[in-house]
Amino acid sequence: MELVNSVYSQAFHHHNDHQLKSAHLLLNNMYYSVMYNEDEAFMLDEKMQKRMAILEDEWMRYEKSECLSRYNFTQEVNEVALVEAALKRHNVYHHHLFDYLALEANEHEFKQFILNESVLNIDFFDYLALALIGVSDQTRAEIMANLWDEAGQGNIQRFHTVLFRKLLRDLDLTYRRDMVIANMSWQGLAGINLFSYLARYPFNKIKYFGLLAATEMLDPDHYIKFMQGMNRVFKDKKIDCTYYLEHQTIDIQHANGWLKNVVIPELAKNPNKIADFWLGFYMRLDSVHRYYDYLLNYFLTRQAA
Ligand SMILES: [Fe+2]
Repeated sequence: MELVNSVYSQAFHHHNDHQLKSAHLLLNNMYYSVMYNEDEAFMLDEKMQKRMAILEDEWMRYEKSECLSRYNFTQEVNEVALVEAALKRHNVYHHHLFDYLALEANEHEFKQFILNESVLNIDFFDYLALALIGVSDQTRAEIMANLWDEAGQGNIQRFHTVLFRKLLRDLDLTYRRDMVIANMSWQGLAGINLFSYLARYPFNKIKYFGLLAATEMLDPDHYIKFMQGMNRVFKDKKIDCTYYLEHQTIDIQHANGWLKNVVIPELAKNPNKIADFWLGFYMRLDSVHRYYDYLLNYFLTRQAA
């Protein structure tokens, strides 16, 4: 047990792809068990819970030291423009992966990109629901408005989960969550794990709000290029892209509402949490950056082979 723990914990410090994949896969399975497992026989036992805590501790120690060395965590958050400026300064903003998707990617690569997004896109409803627990009424009102949009404003056919599954069907893609997870890179798994880690512990609440702000703010511009590529590659096929078209616009409203109605008032009440907001914000941007870098490199390497 001690040896296994030390191997996993070293993964974060040695940047070994194989070890990182093992560590993030294990964490991913543990989070899945905690969030979705309905069979008591498969609950995490005490030994596994300890292992999970060690892994989380090592992982966060590494992530925090990376972020603290690069970003300003003291800047007051009192207007939307300031957070937008921070996003635009980050290297993940207007990532080249989306230029590649817009102009060069083929059908197979689009399908791979969409499958890699599938777990977070389908589980996002649940992640948003987790944000509701223990927050103020004003924050609840904003999260409920976002959830109502996730729920197609009451129309099941317009649920974002349903729209995304329809896109998968139109592309002849079969969604098997376990298969997608098994085939993902550690960078992709780490992105899902970051959602889980920040969503499930109340002490991470403001970090989680930072992660959600970064997510809603980053996607719209990327999705415009994504749709440009979809229209190029699938111009002769009937593919329902409502999921992505909807997120091009709705995420802009959600990001604004999130910052104005949740983040700014919460931080005005609790200025000691400003660093937490920036930590969640930058951990998400760094995580997506590593993931997009990996995917672009993977596509380019295969293209050259
Ligand atoms: Fe959505």
